[in-house]
Amino acid sequence: MAIIGKDIIKARQLLQAGELVAIPTETVYGLAGNALQPASVTKIFTVKNRPSFDPLIVHVHSPEKASEWVTEIPEAAKQLMDRFWPGPLTLLLKKNKQIPDLVTAGMDTVGIRCPNHPLTLSLLAELDFPLAAPSANPFGYVSPTTPAHVNEQLGAKIQYILDGGNCEVGIESTVLGFEKGKPIIHRFGGLSQEKIESIIGKVSSKIQSTSNPKSPGQLISHYAPAKTVILGKLKELIETYDPRVSGILAFQHAIPAVNSKHQFILSPGGNLEEAAQNLFSALRELDKMKIELILAEEVPDVGLGKAINDRLRRAAKH
Ligand code: TXA
Ligand code: MG
Repeated sequence: MAIIGKDIIKARQLLQAGELVAIPTETVYGLAGNALQPASVTKIFTVKNRPSFDPLIVHVHSPEKASEWVTEIPEAAKQLMDRFWPGPLTLLLKKNKQIPDLVTAGMDTVGIRCPNHPLTLSLLAELDFPLAAPSANPFGYVSPTTPAHVNEQLGAKIQYILDGGNCEVGIESTVLGFEKGKPIIHRFGGLSQEKIESIIGKVSSKIQSTSNPKSPGQLISHYAPAKTVILGKLKELIETYDPRVSGILAFQHAIPAVNSKHQFILSPGGNLEEAAQNLFSALRELDKMKIELILAEEVPDVGLGKAINDRLRRAAKH
């Protein structure tokens, strides 16, 4: 198992030696390595069992640092950085030659973000390279929002997990790119479309789900627990499926027919931020229970609800 601790000097030394360290961010834990060193980046793909066509996000300390790795920053991207960084927004920008092709899976854009977590920001401030970091889970599984989640799955493969507590946002960053100057959301995430639009006006979304997507986090089946997830209206699902072997992932209200131990309520008060925070832990807990199915319902499709529903739909595709 990996050591879990708050020692940023140790984390820095491991990263400088080309090793990987799990790092906290406000969204989910990342599996970090030196983004400029192909050998470290290769380790990330190996440890995660991730296909090399899936590009990694590069984490930087500030907008100024981001400009060291890209050739241009559109005006709208500048405005978004000013307003929302550090925060759960990844921007796809034209990369320069210093970013290895391995990081971007050969694409000419690099996903860059400045994570909002004090420990990771201190770590980044002390490094003279940016950190490539996908979510710290095996490819295709639910993202980790606690150090224990990381340890359960990757603990045998890495030495150190930097302990930043539970992730505050709980769902991955929103990925936004530009096509012919127009902003396009490629993955719904921890920064809502509404907040983005309040700064730069209308944005469209291109949430792909083909087998060779632009943002492979958009593979149809992704973010998925091992158990079968069935999405629908809980009251109807519970009439179709056996409540004795079913777990429930509900937005606000429990289902009386099901054992309360097998139920997770994302937010009794109907708060989407709280629901996002609890989503991945709940999926992991349900996955460990002695049940056969996870029955889940969508949440209102506004604000962070879009990201929550996106993850639920992918979790339900097997
Ligand atoms: O919140 C997050 O974004 C977390 C934390 C650790 O920062 N990271 C994360 O990374 O979720 P990952 O690798 O699990 O998901 C990154 C997503 C993938 O769907 C990837 O395909 C997409 O971003 N992506 C990265 N670079 C891209 C690029 N240049 N073009 C298109 N999509 C890109
Ligand atoms: Mg991921």
